[in-house]
Amino acid sequence: MKSYKKNSPKNARRQPLILGIETSCDETSFAVLRGKDKLLSNVVSSSLFRHKKFGGVVPEIASRHCLEQVQKVFEEALREARVKAGALDAIAVTRGPGLIGSLLVGVSFAKSLGYQLGIPVIGVNHMEAHLKANFLNAAEPKSYIGLIVSGGHTTILFNRNGKSQILGETIDDAIGEAYDKTAKILGLSYPGGPIIDRLARTGNPNAISFTQPKLDGRFNFSFSGIKTAVLYLVCNPKTGKKLKAKSVKDVAASFQRAVIGWVVDKTLAATEHRKTKDIVVGGGVSANSYLREELQRRANKIGVRVWLPLLALSTDNAGMIARLGYDLYKKGIKSKLNMTGDPGLSIV
Ligand code: KG4
Ligand code: ZN
Repeated sequence: MKSYKKNSPKNARRQPLILGIETSCDETSFAVLRGKDKLLSNVVSSSLFRHKKFGGVVPEIASRHCLEQVQKVFEEALREARVKAGALDAIAVTRGPGLIGSLLVGVSFAKSLGYQLGIPVIGVNHMEAHLKANFLNAAEPKSYIGLIVSGGHTTILFNRNGKSQILGETIDDAIGEAYDKTAKILGLSYPGGPIIDRLARTGNPNAISFTQPKLDGRFNFSFSGIKTAVLYLVCNPKTGKKLKAKSVKDVAASFQRAVIGWVVDKTLAATEHRKTKDIVVGGGVSANSYLREELQRRANKIGVRVWLPLLALSTDNAGMIARLGYDLYKKGIKSKLNMTGDPGLSIV
């Protein structure tokens, strides 16, 4: 069980205490947030080790793990925050998007706890929360381009005064999914994103030149073609020729240079298009070292600020859910008791 603790509760004034719950996929996470920025605890229990041998998340295993862990992680988050359940003011829980079995564990837990404690339950959008992970210690800019890069989404949006408009999305695989599938083709373990990221540092990024697919929408993405291109490199169907082990790192580096390059190009183009000065990044792939370097380097040149979450807040965690919950709580927004998990919940 990983734990991330940011601030001491000692000097905190009486600000609302929000419990965050995240169970949208293979993680079970609970966090306690005081006010908008004092993350008293953020405990994550992952079931990744159970999925590795299958090369991807098995929904049934993920939801069972959530069910096994939910009470334990809840108690640990309270203990670490040194907070009693009775002191909580509201509960924010991921309502979607995600795997229905896992979502239902968090949502059911939140509703029963909220009912028992007599406090509001706020169902939140997981993707929106990924962006909010950036605003734990800073005020949200009035307008920005949001880039969500995760295992399930690749989205560019424009946010003004808290309202989002989607500018582009992937039309097939999400970028994290492309990393994971490409890693599998290369014989690497799961999840492939961090492995390719590490391996790419030792390879030649110019070894292979992958072609960017032509798409209708200017800010849309497609990542399924590059995965097939890598498959053909690993084992050419015409010649039957197999890739040499030493070239794997070159493929990883070239793959990474290509997909991150496409993402950075389109994100900067969207920034110019909407004339904003801020780019806010969220989702598991925001942990990628090359994305972090490249986006910041190129944005710096045109005077645009890039917001990147702390590494511990890049991948799925309940701290970001609590942070979004805080904003909604301040607006008096709460969910009805018949709220349920929504696997396809949209961000707008
Ligand atoms: O946001 P997240 O934790 O879960 C979803 O909401 O999907 O994202 C998980 C994804 C996985 O596909 C994983 O391979 C990818 O994030 N990922 C990375 C890195 N760390 C995690 N991809 C590229 N580079 C990384 N360093
Ligand atoms: Zn996520």
